[in-house]
Amino acid sequence: MKKIFVSRQLPDAGMELLQDSGFEIDLHPHSHPLAPDALRQRVKDVQGLICLLDDKIGRQLIDTAQNLEVISNMAVGYNNIDTEYAASRGIAVCNTPGILTTATAELAWALLFAVARRIPESDAFMRSGKFSGWQPLLMLGGAVLGKTLGVIGSGRIGTAFALMSKGFHMRVLYNGKRNPVLERELGAENTDLATLLRESDFISLHVPLRESNYHLIGKREFSLMKTGAYLINTARGPVIDEAELVRVLKEKRIAGAALDVYENEPRMAEGLADLENVVLTPHTGSATTETRKRLAEMAVDNCLKILRGEDCENRVV
Ligand code: GLV
Repeated sequence: MKKIFVSRQLPDAGMELLQDSGFEIDLHPHSHPLAPDALRQRVKDVQGLICLLDDKIGRQLIDTAQNLEVISNMAVGYNNIDTEYAASRGIAVCNTPGILTTATAELAWALLFAVARRIPESDAFMRSGKFSGWQPLLMLGGAVLGKTLGVIGSGRIGTAFALMSKGFHMRVLYNGKRNPVLERELGAENTDLATLLRESDFISLHVPLRESNYHLIGKREFSLMKTGAYLINTARGPVIDEAELVRVLKEKRIAGAALDVYENEPRMAEGLADLENVVLTPHTGSATTETRKRLAEMAVDNCLKILRGEDCENRVV
Protein backbone atom coordinates (compact mmCIF):
# COMPACT_ATOMS: atom_id res chain seq x y z
CA MET A 1 0.00 0.00 0.00
CA LYS A 2 1.31 3.48 -0.88
CA LYS A 3 2.19 5.72 2.02
CA ILE A 4 1.77 9.49 2.49
CA PHE A 5 3.66 11.60 5.00
CA VAL A 6 1.82 14.74 6.13
CA SER A 7 4.18 17.26 7.69
CA ARG A 8 1.64 19.05 9.90
CA GLN A 9 -1.85 18.72 11.34
CA LEU A 10 -4.11 20.00 8.53
CA PRO A 11 -7.62 21.49 8.84
CA ASP A 12 -10.17 18.69 9.43
CA ALA A 13 -11.51 18.61 5.87
CA GLY A 14 -8.05 17.64 4.59
CA MET A 15 -7.50 15.05 7.30
CA GLU A 16 -10.87 13.43 6.53
CA LEU A 17 -10.02 13.12 2.83
CA LEU A 18 -6.75 11.45 3.79
CA GLN A 19 -8.46 9.02 6.17
CA ASP A 20 -10.87 7.97 3.41
CA SER A 21 -8.13 7.69 0.74
CA GLY A 22 -7.20 4.06 1.26
CA PHE A 23 -3.49 4.99 1.54
CA GLU A 24 -1.38 4.58 4.66
CA ILE A 25 -0.99 7.91 6.42
CA ASP A 26 1.90 9.04 8.62
CA LEU A 27 1.25 12.41 10.28
CA HIS A 28 3.48 14.79 12.21
CA PRO A 29 0.56 15.87 14.38
CA HIS A 30 1.88 19.27 15.46
CA SER A 31 1.76 22.86 14.30
CA HIS A 32 5.55 23.35 14.22
CA PRO A 33 7.78 22.01 11.42
CA LEU A 34 10.09 19.02 11.83
CA ALA A 35 13.85 19.64 11.86
CA PRO A 36 15.44 18.74 8.46
CA ASP A 37 16.99 15.47 9.73
CA ALA A 38 13.73 14.30 11.29
CA LEU A 39 11.81 15.19 8.13
CA ARG A 40 14.27 13.17 6.02
CA GLN A 41 13.79 10.14 8.28
CA ARG A 42 10.02 10.34 7.92
CA VAL A 43 9.99 10.47 4.09
CA LYS A 44 12.47 7.60 3.51
CA ASP A 45 9.87 5.09 2.38
CA VAL A 46 6.87 7.23 1.37
CA GLN A 47 5.35 7.73 -2.08
CA GLY A 48 3.48 10.94 -1.18
CA LEU A 49 4.58 14.00 0.79
CA ILE A 50 2.14 16.74 1.82
CA CYS A 51 4.17 19.68 3.10
CA LEU A 52 3.95 23.35 3.98
CA LEU A 53 5.85 26.41 2.87
CA ASP A 54 8.31 26.25 5.76
CA ASP A 55 9.38 22.67 5.02
CA LYS A 56 12.61 22.86 3.01
CA ILE A 57 12.45 20.22 0.32
CA GLY A 58 15.92 20.19 -1.19
CA ARG A 59 18.20 17.70 -2.93
CA GLN A 60 19.21 15.84 0.20
CA LEU A 61 15.64 15.15 1.21
CA ILE A 62 14.67 14.17 -2.33
CA ASP A 63 17.64 11.77 -2.52
CA THR A 64 16.60 10.20 0.79
CA ALA A 65 13.03 9.65 -0.36
CA GLN A 66 13.78 6.94 -2.91
CA ASN A 67 10.12 6.00 -3.48
CA LEU A 68 8.71 9.52 -3.68
CA GLU A 69 6.19 10.16 -6.48
CA VAL A 70 4.67 13.47 -5.41
CA ILE A 71 5.44 16.54 -3.29
CA SER A 72 2.20 18.40 -2.64
CA ASN A 73 2.73 21.84 -1.13
CA MET A 74 -0.18 23.39 0.75
CA ALA A 75 0.70 26.87 -0.58
CA VAL A 76 0.64 28.70 -3.86
CA GLY A 77 4.32 29.66 -3.56
CA TYR A 78 6.74 26.74 -3.90
CA ASN A 79 10.11 28.42 -3.41
CA ASN A 80 10.71 25.98 -0.52
CA ILE A 81 11.01 23.10 -3.01
CA ASP A 82 13.86 22.34 -5.42
CA THR A 83 11.42 21.79 -8.30
CA GLU A 84 14.14 21.35 -10.89
CA TYR A 85 15.74 18.52 -8.95
CA ALA A 86 12.37 16.92 -8.22
CA ALA A 87 11.56 17.03 -11.93
CA SER A 88 14.93 15.45 -12.80
CA ARG A 89 13.99 12.54 -10.52
CA GLY A 90 10.52 12.25 -12.09
CA ILE A 91 8.76 13.48 -8.94
CA ALA A 92 5.63 15.60 -9.41
CA VAL A 93 5.34 18.88 -7.49
CA CYS A 94 1.89 20.42 -6.91
CA ASN A 95 0.71 23.70 -5.38
CA THR A 96 -2.65 25.24 -4.41
CA PRO A 97 -3.30 28.21 -6.69
CA GLY A 98 -6.43 30.34 -7.00
CA ILE A 99 -8.21 29.68 -3.75
CA LEU A 100 -6.12 31.99 -1.58
CA THR A 101 -6.16 34.91 -4.02
CA THR A 102 -8.95 36.89 -2.37
CA ALA A 103 -7.91 36.15 1.21
CA THR A 104 -4.38 37.39 0.52
CA ALA A 105 -5.56 40.48 -1.37
CA GLU A 106 -7.92 41.26 1.53
CA LEU A 107 -5.10 40.98 4.05
CA ALA A 108 -2.98 43.34 1.94
CA TRP A 109 -5.79 45.92 2.16
CA ALA A 110 -6.19 45.31 5.89
CA LEU A 111 -2.45 45.96 6.31
CA LEU A 112 -2.58 49.02 4.08
CA PHE A 113 -5.26 50.63 6.22
CA ALA A 114 -3.72 49.41 9.47
CA VAL A 115 -0.42 51.13 8.71
CA ALA A 116 -1.88 54.24 7.07
CA ARG A 117 -4.33 54.87 9.92
CA ARG A 118 -2.06 53.51 12.67
CA ILE A 119 -4.61 50.99 13.92
CA PRO A 120 -2.33 48.76 16.07
CA GLU A 121 -0.73 51.82 17.64
CA SER A 122 -4.15 53.35 18.32
CA ASP A 123 -5.41 50.09 19.79
CA ALA A 124 -2.40 49.86 22.14
CA PHE A 125 -2.93 53.51 23.09
CA MET A 126 -6.55 52.87 24.07
CA ARG A 127 -5.75 49.72 26.04
CA SER A 128 -3.05 51.50 27.99
CA GLY A 129 -5.61 54.08 29.20
CA LYS A 130 -3.76 56.99 27.57
CA PHE A 131 -6.81 58.43 25.76
CA SER A 132 -7.68 61.61 27.57
CA GLY A 133 -10.05 63.09 24.98
CA TRP A 134 -10.25 64.15 21.31
CA GLN A 135 -7.13 65.94 20.10
CA PRO A 136 -6.55 67.62 16.74
CA LEU A 137 -3.10 66.04 16.26
CA LEU A 138 -3.64 62.58 17.70
CA MET A 139 -2.69 59.59 15.49
CA LEU A 140 -2.54 61.47 12.20
CA GLY A 141 -2.04 59.11 9.27
CA GLY A 142 -2.20 58.93 5.49
CA ALA A 143 -5.34 59.25 3.34
CA VAL A 144 -6.08 56.65 0.67
CA LEU A 145 -8.80 58.12 -1.58
CA GLY A 146 -7.42 59.41 -4.86
CA LYS A 147 -3.82 58.45 -4.08
CA THR A 148 -1.49 56.48 -6.34
CA LEU A 149 -1.35 52.74 -5.80
CA GLY A 150 1.70 50.83 -7.04
CA VAL A 151 1.18 47.11 -7.54
CA ILE A 152 4.30 45.03 -8.11
CA GLY A 153 3.30 41.75 -9.75
CA SER A 154 0.30 41.42 -12.03
CA GLY A 155 -0.68 37.80 -11.45
CA ARG A 156 -3.77 36.52 -9.67
CA ILE A 157 -3.20 38.14 -6.26
CA GLY A 158 -1.83 41.45 -7.59
CA THR A 159 -4.82 41.71 -9.91
CA ALA A 160 -7.38 40.96 -7.17
CA PHE A 161 -5.67 43.47 -4.85
CA ALA A 162 -5.65 46.20 -7.52
CA LEU A 163 -9.31 45.61 -8.46
CA MET A 164 -10.31 46.06 -4.81
CA SER A 165 -9.08 49.69 -5.03
CA LYS A 166 -12.08 50.63 -7.20
CA GLY A 167 -14.04 52.37 -4.47
CA PHE A 168 -11.04 54.52 -3.56
CA HIS A 169 -10.67 56.05 -7.02
CA MET A 170 -6.92 55.64 -7.07
CA ARG A 171 -4.46 56.08 -9.89
CA VAL A 172 -3.11 52.56 -10.33
CA LEU A 173 0.39 51.78 -11.58
CA TYR A 174 1.54 48.24 -11.98
CA ASN A 175 4.81 46.51 -12.72
CA GLY A 176 4.76 43.05 -14.28
CA LYS A 177 3.42 41.40 -17.37
CA ARG A 178 0.76 43.39 -19.31
CA ASN A 179 -2.65 42.84 -17.77
CA PRO A 180 -5.63 43.86 -19.93
CA VAL A 181 -8.08 43.43 -17.02
CA LEU A 182 -6.26 46.03 -14.92
CA GLU A 183 -6.00 48.39 -17.86
CA ARG A 184 -9.64 48.04 -18.83
CA GLU A 185 -11.18 48.05 -15.33
CA LEU A 186 -8.95 50.63 -13.65
CA GLY A 187 -7.13 52.44 -16.45
CA ALA A 188 -4.00 51.07 -14.73
CA GLU A 189 -0.66 52.00 -16.27
CA ASN A 190 2.05 49.40 -16.80
CA THR A 191 5.31 51.08 -15.71
CA ASP A 192 8.90 50.18 -15.01
CA LEU A 193 9.80 49.58 -11.38
CA ALA A 194 11.60 52.90 -10.87
CA THR A 195 8.62 54.93 -12.11
CA LEU A 196 6.23 52.98 -9.90
CA LEU A 197 8.45 53.49 -6.85
CA ARG A 198 8.89 57.22 -7.54
CA GLU A 199 5.19 57.95 -8.09
CA SER A 200 3.26 55.66 -5.71
CA ASP A 201 1.87 56.54 -2.29
CA PHE A 202 1.12 52.88 -1.49
CA ILE A 203 3.27 50.07 -2.87
CA SER A 204 2.16 46.46 -2.54
CA LEU A 205 4.23 43.40 -3.45
CA HIS A 206 2.65 40.43 -5.23
CA VAL A 207 5.53 38.58 -6.89
CA PRO A 208 6.68 35.00 -6.31
CA LEU A 209 10.13 34.49 -4.80
CA ARG A 210 12.55 33.74 -7.61
CA GLU A 211 16.24 34.42 -7.83
CA SER A 212 15.48 37.52 -9.91
CA ASN A 213 13.16 38.89 -7.18
CA TYR A 214 15.55 38.39 -4.26
CA HIS A 215 15.94 41.85 -2.62
CA LEU A 216 13.91 43.39 -5.41
CA ILE A 217 13.32 46.21 -2.93
CA GLY A 218 16.66 47.28 -1.47
CA LYS A 219 18.71 50.39 -0.79
CA ARG A 220 18.42 51.87 -4.29
CA GLU A 221 14.68 51.17 -4.53
CA PHE A 222 13.95 52.71 -1.11
CA SER A 223 15.83 55.81 -2.20
CA LEU A 224 13.37 56.26 -5.07
CA MET A 225 10.25 56.14 -2.88
CA LYS A 226 8.35 59.19 -1.68
CA THR A 227 8.90 60.13 1.97
CA GLY A 228 5.16 59.66 2.47
CA ALA A 229 5.09 56.19 0.87
CA TYR A 230 3.86 53.02 2.56
CA LEU A 231 5.16 49.56 1.59
CA ILE A 232 3.03 46.42 1.99
CA ASN A 233 4.37 42.86 1.62
CA THR A 234 2.13 39.80 1.58
CA ALA A 235 4.30 37.94 -0.97
CA ARG A 236 7.61 36.53 0.31
CA GLY A 237 10.00 38.10 2.82
CA PRO A 238 13.26 37.89 0.84
CA VAL A 239 11.75 40.13 -1.85
CA ILE A 240 12.64 43.00 0.53
CA ASP A 241 16.08 43.66 2.03
CA GLU A 242 14.64 43.63 5.56
CA ALA A 243 17.70 45.08 7.33
CA GLU A 244 17.64 47.98 4.89
CA LEU A 245 13.90 48.42 5.49
CA VAL A 246 14.56 48.77 9.23
CA ARG A 247 17.13 51.48 8.51
CA VAL A 248 14.78 53.35 6.19
CA LEU A 249 11.90 53.17 8.67
CA LYS A 250 14.11 54.28 11.57
CA GLU A 251 15.17 57.33 9.61
CA LYS A 252 11.55 57.91 8.54
CA ARG A 253 12.61 58.01 4.89
CA ILE A 254 9.28 56.39 4.07
CA ALA A 255 6.05 56.73 6.07
CA GLY A 256 5.61 53.10 7.05
CA ALA A 257 5.51 49.44 6.13
CA ALA A 258 3.15 46.56 6.78
CA LEU A 259 4.51 43.04 6.53
CA ASP A 260 2.97 39.60 6.60
CA VAL A 261 6.17 37.83 5.50
CA TYR A 262 9.80 38.03 6.64
CA GLU A 263 13.19 37.44 5.16
CA ASN A 264 14.14 34.70 7.66
CA GLU A 265 10.81 33.43 8.98
CA PRO A 266 9.89 33.08 11.74
CA ARG A 267 12.62 35.55 12.78
CA MET A 268 12.46 39.27 12.10
CA ALA A 269 15.32 41.62 11.30
CA GLU A 270 16.83 43.23 14.37
CA GLY A 271 14.97 46.35 15.40
CA LEU A 272 11.90 45.73 13.21
CA ALA A 273 9.58 44.94 16.11
CA ASP A 274 10.66 48.08 18.00
CA LEU A 275 9.41 50.46 15.32
CA GLU A 276 6.09 52.26 15.51
CA ASN A 277 5.70 52.90 11.79
CA VAL A 278 5.38 49.22 10.96
CA VAL A 279 2.50 46.73 11.21
CA LEU A 280 3.38 43.04 11.50
CA THR A 281 1.29 39.91 10.97
CA PRO A 282 2.45 36.26 11.17
CA HIS A 283 2.24 35.07 7.51
CA THR A 284 -1.54 34.86 7.59
CA GLY A 285 -2.41 35.92 4.03
CA SER A 286 -4.50 32.80 3.43
CA ALA A 287 -5.75 32.52 7.02
CA THR A 288 -9.50 32.63 6.65
CA THR A 289 -11.36 29.55 7.85
CA GLU A 290 -12.85 28.97 4.40
CA THR A 291 -9.58 29.37 2.54
CA ARG A 292 -7.50 27.15 4.83
CA LYS A 293 -10.14 24.40 4.56
CA ARG A 294 -10.04 24.57 0.77
CA LEU A 295 -6.24 24.71 0.74
CA ALA A 296 -6.03 21.51 2.77
CA GLU A 297 -8.58 19.78 0.53
CA MET A 298 -6.71 20.85 -2.60
CA ALA A 299 -3.28 19.81 -1.28
CA VAL A 300 -4.63 16.37 -0.35
CA ASP A 301 -6.55 16.00 -3.60
CA ASN A 302 -3.44 16.89 -5.64
CA CYS A 303 -1.44 14.24 -3.80
CA LEU A 304 -4.11 11.55 -4.18
CA LYS A 305 -4.54 12.26 -7.90
CA ILE A 306 -0.84 11.81 -8.62
CA LEU A 307 -0.60 8.63 -6.51
CA ARG A 308 -3.62 7.21 -8.34
CA GLY A 309 -2.08 8.04 -11.71
CA GLU A 310 -4.74 10.64 -12.53
CA ASP A 311 -4.20 14.04 -14.20
CA CYS A 312 -3.64 16.92 -11.79
CA GLU A 313 -4.16 20.48 -13.00
CA ASN A 314 -2.08 21.93 -10.14
CA ARG A 315 1.13 20.20 -11.10
CA VAL A 316 3.97 22.72 -11.44
CA VAL A 317 6.53 20.14 -12.62
C1 GLV B 1 1.34 31.43 1.21
O1 GLV B 1 2.21 32.20 1.46
C2 GLV B 1 1.29 30.63 0.03
O2 GLV B 1 2.21 30.68 -0.79
O3 GLV B 1 0.31 29.89 -0.12
